[in-house]
Amino acid sequence: MYKTIITDLDGTLLNTNHKVDDFTKETLVQLYNRGVNIILATGRSYYDAYRVKLDLGLDLPMITSNGATLFDSDNKELFRYNLDSNVCEYILNLDYKQFGKDIILNTICEEKWLLHDKIDKGHRLNEWVEESWKYIYSGKNDINTKGVSKFFFFGNHDELVNLQKHLQEKFGDRFNSAFTLPFCYEVFSKNASKGIALKKIAELKGFNLDEAVAFGDGFNDVEMLREVKKGYVMSNASEELKKFLTDIEEAGYNKDSAVAKKIKELF
Ligand code: G3H
Ligand code: MG
Repeated sequence: MYKTIITDLDGTLLNTNHKVDDFTKETLVQLYNRGVNIILATGRSYYDAYRVKLDLGLDLPMITSNGATLFDSDNKELFRYNLDSNVCEYILNLDYKQFGKDIILNTICEEKWLLHDKIDKGHRLNEWVEESWKYIYSGKNDINTKGVSKFFFFGNHDELVNLQKHLQEKFGDRFNSAFTLPFCYEVFSKNASKGIALKKIAELKGFNLDEAVAFGDGFNDVEMLREVKKGYVMSNASEELKKFLTDIEEAGYNKDSAVAKKIKELF
């Protein structure tokens, strides 16, 4: 009945250490070898997602930066929707202290991860970000405002909600945004979503989304979960997201390899 799997990475396919566990890897390799279509769909930038693809050792298409960028199984860039440069300019020059004291601005520009604020690594960063530290560049002087695929902000949830309201009042629908986790708010092109990118790759590859299942744990997964025959929300998703997706079944926890268990059952 099903022929295609679309899976989010953080909080979904990856465990709490942001790694693919052995059972998940074996399951995906088996299904791939049986001809099942597998697509990775993430908020991560290309390089951050590519590390997961390398670890799996499979040639998979990747939807990255929340659908702002789409890469084919051979890593060819199929499309890119960068953020409106006026929105970029504004975000780069905004004084974040007006929303509280905790907001940290990150930029993905030309696939480089730029972190603008000097932060106390030990205090602020979790293990995953620590590991990614070697991929992070600092400074914002060299940003090409036409080359930004997304901004993402770490911080206190309420402060981030105020920032979201502020940007929506200022720019209306000139951008799209989503909370990928309660402490991570992401801003990207109005033309981008994992759902839009999924429709595009399905059309290019001839996949039928009526034969597809998708898994996700964040508000950046909502459109994609609604594009497929059967969408699943992870049990570790926020209560706010689970309440929002009352029509969507729960898959189980990422720490228990829930995606791999579910696809073994379904395929
Ligand atoms: O920056 C990336 C966020 O962790 C979201 O990633 O869409 O794979 O959950 P995800
Ligand atoms: Mg996620």
